[in-house]
Amino acid sequence: MTEMRPVTQAAAKKVPTLPDAQTVTRVEHWTDRLFSFRVTRPASLRFRSGEFVMIGLLGDNGKPLLRAYSIASPAWDDELEFYSIKVQDGPLTSKLQHIQPGDQIILRPKPVGTLVHDALLPGKRLWFFATGTGFAPFASLLREPETYENYDEVVITHTCRDVAELEYGRRLIEDIRQDELLAELIGEGFADKIRYYPITTREESPKMGRITTLLKDGTVFADLGIDGISPDTDRAMVCGSLGFNVDMKEAMEGFGLREGANSDPAEYVVEKAFVG
Ligand code: A2P
Repeated sequence: MTEMRPVTQAAAKKVPTLPDAQTVTRVEHWTDRLFSFRVTRPASLRFRSGEFVMIGLLGDNGKPLLRAYSIASPAWDDELEFYSIKVQDGPLTSKLQHIQPGDQIILRPKPVGTLVHDALLPGKRLWFFATGTGFAPFASLLREPETYENYDEVVITHTCRDVAELEYGRRLIEDIRQDELLAELIGEGFADKIRYYPITTREESPKMGRITTLLKDGTVFADLGIDGISPDTDRAMVCGSLGFNVDMKEAMEGFGLREGANSDPAEYVVEKAFVG
């Protein structure tokens, strides 16, 4: 049993012991609303790239305060990575944003989720549609060899309010393209399959507008030189806010794609990004 090192003053009053504590190894702040961090991985934890787990901290009442977080690192990584919003009055993230290397968080080692390869039928082109921290499961899947074994092309669209909010994803994709370990794991040239399509809605950038609109008016297809989305060739994973997911489901169904699940794979899958 590991001793939990509390992050808050209030929790410091009594030092609790918890069986599911993991140690923070790295924290990166991207904007005043976004940060990512890495923690140790329980030796027994097995998961599929794209799944989520419950993580959190001890609340002031001494009880665990847990939320669902997509694991942003791939299944083969020694550590676990998470990408989080900071909500100043959010019960969890108001505290979680202050974690430092050496602190401990709670991690329940029961991974689940539908943004997994198992929930999709075979296809030729895979689309990842993310808004905000909905990029997290794709940060995992973009480093997963199966993604490139299964598909000829991987299109990642990430919609954020401003340019700074795209940075975690932009940097990650840049790093992936140069990663020698990944090239060894996946095969030389795998990165040529990645088509990155970053979009902002509230700040000037090379591509502006909501992805839903850009799909509807065909801008995305014209920009990428793709004929369109078809159930014969295209598969999609969607992760963002509730409203985004609802609109994207309608868009996907409009292209003739059906929603899949672990028990019933089909052409697209959706999951809500954690926003609190
Ligand atoms: P917008 O600026 O037009 O609201 P948030 O930071 O609120 O989670 O939003 C992340 C990004 O997702 C923003 O760029 C936002 O655009 C966009 N977004 C939110 N809802 C939708 C939706 N229903 N369809 C498409 N994009 C959306």
